[in-house]
Amino acid sequence: MKPKVLLPSNWKRYEKALNILKPIANIEYIDKNRFEEQLKEAEGMIGYGVGEEILRKAPKLKVVARFGVGYDDCDVEALTRYQVYLTHTPGVLSGAVADMTIALLLACNRKIVQADKYVREEWAEKALGYPDYGVDLKGKTIGIIGLGRIGYEVAKRCAKGFDMKVIYYDIRRNEKAERELNAERKSLEEVMRESDFVSIHLPLTPQTRRLIGEKYLRMMKKTAYLINTARGAIVDQKALTEILSKNLIAGAGLDVFEEEPIPLNDPLLKLKNVVLTPHIASLTIEARESMAICNAESIAAVLRGDVPPPHVVPEQEGLVFKK
Ligand code: 8YV
Repeated sequence: MKPKVLLPSNWKRYEKALNILKPIANIEYIDKNRFEEQLKEAEGMIGYGVGEEILRKAPKLKVVARFGVGYDDCDVEALTRYQVYLTHTPGVLSGAVADMTIALLLACNRKIVQADKYVREEWAEKALGYPDYGVDLKGKTIGIIGLGRIGYEVAKRCAKGFDMKVIYYDIRRNEKAERELNAERKSLEEVMRESDFVSIHLPLTPQTRRLIGEKYLRMMKKTAYLINTARGAIVDQKALTEILSKNLIAGAGLDVFEEEPIPLNDPLLKLKNVVLTPHIASLTIEARESMAICNAESIAAVLRGDVPPPHVVPEQEGLVFKK
């Protein structure tokens, strides 16, 4: 009997990933109504938000693969205690997320959403000329908060594509970015004060939760924009809404929110100086396909006994579980 692996039903489209798993596993698609029963025999799964509650019901589980790079919704301590590997998809989605970050930056700067509305509703009737100008990006400063894999891709697009100056805040120095992109490492306060665009690319951890609160938001230039394609909870969303409603910064481009989906009565949705998207930064055909392959390789490695598996989360690096 081949080991059982649970996959979300939308995985049927990822043929290459399925072909990695099929020879060594019995694939079962997750059925909400039978999930508890399915967990009893599962040895591998694609999972979100995995913690005690799921682990207790899955005694044979050896590996959980998170379909994404961020795994803040999973309880790594509990997974480790249960000797279950947690793997994720670093690298393969960096370009897609960086592209989306640039899309939000441009949409904010050139007021694409308002311009679209203007064309549909007003232009033909009161062609007074469109009043909302953006700025040239050349020579402007992008401040990257968290210059890892994704931050680097954003910095590269800004430096090489738009001739922007790159400054960054990170607990680690990124020598490659300093060498290749002339990126300058600064304090968080300096990045907030000096940037024309601030873009967040940190993982969500206890240290980064609400890191960008009122104190730092108030340091931003009145003409600056905040872009967040990382995790909503890194920013104090209430403070950001307040700052935006008082026009203390020019605007924000947000793909992520403290609560997702963001409730329809959230005051952020009433503001005109924001561009909002529904957590779609990794949603390109290529990135999602590569993420699925990455997950499948990790699950297959564990089921074959090749441990630790590729793409294991940093907290479990070097650990060997014998289950
Ligand atoms: C989501 C992401 O996990 O990679 C990440 O960290 O935020 C996304 O890829 C994914 O969209 C959930 O389906």
